[in-house]
Amino acid sequence: MTDDLTIAHDSFKQFERDKFSLVAQKYDQAIATVTSQVNEAILDAVGAKSGLRLLDVACGTGWLSAAALKREAIVTGLDYVENMVAIAMRCPQASFHNGDAENLPFESGQFEAVVCSLGILHFPNPERAIAESFRVLKPGGRYAFTCWTPPTCNPFMALILGSVQTYGSMDLDLPPGPPLFRFGERGECERALIAEGFTEVSVTELPMNWTFSTPDDVMAKVVVSTARLGTILAMQTPEQERNIKNAIIDGASKYATDSGVEIPASVMLAVGYKP
Ligand SMILES: C[S@@+](CC[C@H](N)C(=O)[O-])C[C@H]1O[C@@H](n2cnc3c(N)ncnc32)[C@H](O)[C@@H]1O
Repeated sequence: MTDDLTIAHDSFKQFERDKFSLVAQKYDQAIATVTSQVNEAILDAVGAKSGLRLLDVACGTGWLSAAALKREAIVTGLDYVENMVAIAMRCPQASFHNGDAENLPFESGQFEAVVCSLGILHFPNPERAIAESFRVLKPGGRYAFTCWTPPTCNPFMALILGSVQTYGSMDLDLPPGPPLFRFGERGECERALIAEGFTEVSVTELPMNWTFSTPDDVMAKVVVSTARLGTILAMQTPEQERNIKNAIIDGASKYATDSGVEIPASVMLAVGYKP
């Protein structure tokens, strides 16, 4: 890795750490309820069951870990952000650690399953994170990760990013980070898993919904509870922000239901087996 890449890598990691640290509480209230919609599918994919030693990488506030505990798995969670880990610790039956997905503080071959829900798009070196998950897995174990699908097949992402592209700017002074939707592409998931030694690779698209009380809530909720998306919205000029907000309200109104607003989205679930 060259010095420039190292600097970019470190500055992106620091950006992510600072942002997730700020939004941890709101993330728990607003976003973990969305990401949790695919938790059972992730746990099914790795065969989570009673007594299985499972590691939850980038565990956030611990909702996937909690779902694995309900299946009586022996759960370890890890996240880079202390404020996230502090909230996750409300589940005393799991063991939570503050650490880096790209440098896991665990012995090789220690886990029978490793899961990582919507973490991979936040790692500046995702190949290294996949290799680390492979290392800590016992032969015969399974690894599963999820990533948002791109706006072309994800109405929620199309609404947010499309509104920014039309009424604002994506040319912002942000540390360069990995592409948000790289692993929302089937071929990228397959290539990355096979390159690190996984076999029996499968990739499945899973639907979910982002839910809001009213169309007016959408932008504010995204700004206060996400890292990169929220920062992209928050860095617009006041005029751009007004126009983006109106476009989001307009688009979100089309998804109004009797009980609120439900905007469809989806994630790719990628699974590999360690021979
Ligand atoms: C979108 S959240 C996903 C949280 C949780 N898995 C879920 O599904 O709700 C991404 C998480 O990745 C964590 N994260 C970002 N970079 C990380 C790294 N290098 N190592 C470990 N965790 C990291 C963040 O702190 C954040 O909790």
